[in-house]
Amino acid sequence: MNRMQDRVVVVTGAAGGMGRAHCRRLAEEGADIIAVDLPDADLAGTAREVESAGRRCVTGVADVTEQQALDAAVTAGVDRLGRLDAVVANAGVYADLALSWELPDTAWQRALDINLTGVWHTVRAGIPHLGAGGSIVVVGSTNGVRGGLSAAHYSASKHAVVGLARTVANELGAQRIRVNTVHPGSVATSMILNDTVYAALRPDLPNPTQEDAARVLAARNILPVPWVDPVDVSNAVLFLASDESRYVTGIELVVDAGLTQKV
Ligand SMILES: NC(=O)c1ccc[n+]([C@@H]2O[C@H](COP(=O)([O-])OP(=O)(O)OC[C@H]3O[C@@H](n4cnc5c(N)ncnc54)[C@H](O)[C@@H]3O)[C@@H](O)[C@H]2O)c1
Repeated sequence: MNRMQDRVVVVTGAAGGMGRAHCRRLAEEGADIIAVDLPDADLAGTAREVESAGRRCVTGVADVTEQQALDAAVTAGVDRLGRLDAVVANAGVYADLALSWELPDTAWQRALDINLTGVWHTVRAGIPHLGAGGSIVVVGSTNGVRGGLSAAHYSASKHAVVGLARTVANELGAQRIRVNTVHPGSVATSMILNDTVYAALRPDLPNPTQEDAARVLAARNILPVPWVDPVDVSNAVLFLASDESRYVTGIELVVDAGLTQKV
């Protein structure tokens, strides 16, 4: 209940499936939240969940591709909440699936802009406010520790943030600020629970359903489940954001039901 008592955490992509779960879980453990997402995202819904856990939530509208907007959102949140203890760079997109050589330039660039440059911007926005004991958690993907199919842009961006995080971990260690990455496998959010992904997973079927896709995904995991829940990833984020991981830095924590180790 108090693993993050009176800490302040900024979360990007905070209105999405996993971002909202991170906010809720961190708030349950006593954190106030700076919740950042795009203009049309339901940040109010995230704020309601944080507040129903008894904590404060400052919402900020910013596209992570825009450094100035992100800086302003983080600074406004820190001004209201008084401090910053952790950064969760969670915003990301998984879209425009195609074979590597058929990816349009625009799809490639968008993935890199949001999933890589957006993380860099988020880290840059947070660092000036962090002190000793601070923690930066970057949400990668199992596509960031191994290749995927029809997602070269996504996989390249998620591998790249590992290099970014390892480097920043080295740069900030002397200040006792830690930097780690979390790599989810399939997670039950709208990012993968949609008809486009079902069609990519079951090209043999004219109108594949969630159940059709679930069978394919379950077969990829060691544990007999098709996906993990957002809170399973939030628990890993919570561990890395909290002092429980005070000597953990520069690592990749995989939460994937065994996807990357299946033989
Ligand atoms: N769902 C999965 O299976 C899965 C697996 C591995 C990794 N991930 C990663 O987890 C993170 C969260 O994914 P999710 O499943 O919650 O997805 P989601 O689509 O439910 O939520 C993503 C959120 O990011 C926000 N966002 C997108 N572009 C943005 C931008 N330019 N600026 C600010 N916010 C932006 C969206 O508005 C949305 O609220 C992503 O980085 C994703 O790549 C997801």
